[in-house]
Amino acid sequence: MSDTLADSRPVVLTGDRPTGPLHLGHFCGSLRSRVTLQHGHDTFVLIADAQALTDNADDPGRITGHVIDLALDYLAVGIDPSLTTICVPSALPALCELTQLFLNLVTVARLERNPTIKDEIQARGFGRDIPAGFLCYPVAQAADIAAFRATLVPVGADQAPMIEQTNAIVRRLNRQVGHALLPEARALIPASGRLPGVDGRAKMSKSQGNALALSATEDEIRAAVRRTDTDPDHLRVGDPGRVEGVVFTYLDAFDPDRDTVAEMKAHYRRGGLGDTVVKGRLEPVLLDLLAPIRASRAAWAHRLDDVRDILRDGTRHARGVTQATLDTVKEALGLYRLAP
Ligand code: TRP
Repeated sequence: MSDTLADSRPVVLTGDRPTGPLHLGHFCGSLRSRVTLQHGHDTFVLIADAQALTDNADDPGRITGHVIDLALDYLAVGIDPSLTTICVPSALPALCELTQLFLNLVTVARLERNPTIKDEIQARGFGRDIPAGFLCYPVAQAADIAAFRATLVPVGADQAPMIEQTNAIVRRLNRQVGHALLPEARALIPASGRLPGVDGRAKMSKSQGNALALSATEDEIRAAVRRTDTDPDHLRVGDPGRVEGVVFTYLDAFDPDRDTVAEMKAHYRRGGLGDTVVKGRLEPVLLDLLAPIRASRAAWAHRLDDVRDILRDGTRHARGVTQATLDTVKEALGLYRLAP
C-alpha cells in the first residue's frame, strides 16, 4: 500500500480556506510555488472547508458557496489536476479520526499559546467565547499534513506555528510507538516575505478590503494600482525617494524584467524619477500577469461539470491515501479493528 512506499516522491501538501476569491498575496505566498512543485512531487491541495467552518459555524453557506470558486482559482493559475490532487477534506473521514487521536497528544495550554491562534482570536473578537473547534483546528491541520505524509508545506509565514504543532504531535506519536511512523514536515515560506495590501498595510486580506483578486477585471486592477503609493513622502520628482513602498514591492514580486526594476529603484533612490512613471510601469505588469489567469478561469467556469469531476476524483484518491495512513496509526497504537 502507498503508506509503505519507501521510494515514493516527496509529498507536498497545502490548502486554503474557501472563504472568498484568492488574491495576489496567495499567489506570491504559495500558489506560485505549488505550480512549480507539482512537477517532481506528489502534490495535494486541500480546499479546507471543514477548517473554515471552525469560525463560520453560523453560516456554512459562506464556505460551501466558495468551494468551486477556489477550485477555479487553482485551475486558473496552473494547478494541473493531472499532477496535483485537489480534494475536499469534509469528505475525508480519516482526517476526523486522525484528528481525534491527535487531540490526545496536545494540551489545551499548548493550543492557547499558538501565536497564530492568539492573533486570530483577537481579530475575530471571540473574547472568551472561542469555539472549541477553532482552538483545535491546528490539530486538525496536523492531521491533514500527517495523513498525506507531507514533508513539504508551502505556506505563508503566519502558518509556521501550524507546522511546528504538527511536528510536535508527530514526534510524540513516533516516540510512543517507538519508530518513525509518520514523517515530520517542513514549511516552505517564500523568501520574499508577505505581500502588503494595496493600501500599504502589512498584509493583503480580503477582510481588510485591501486585496487584489486573481479574478479582478482590468478596471479593478487599474483602480487597485491607483490606490497604491510609491513613497508618500516623495514630494518632488528631483528628491531622493524610498523604494520600500507598495509599488516597488509589487514590481519586485511580479515584474519579470528584474534589470529594469533594479535600474528604476536606483534612479528613484537618487532622485529624478517620478511616482507616475513607476506606477505607470506597475499597471501593465499586473494587467499582463492577471490576463491569462482571468481568461483561463473564464474558460474553466464554462466547464463546471469537469471542475466537479476533478474535485470528485481528487477527493476519492485522497480518501485512499488518508485511510491508509489512519490504518497504520491505528495498528501501531493497537486499536481494535474489525476483521474484514
Ligand atoms: N490554515 C490554512 C490557511 O488558513 C489552510 C490549511 C488547511 C492548510 N489545511 C492545511 C495549509 C494543510 C497547509 C496544510 O490558509
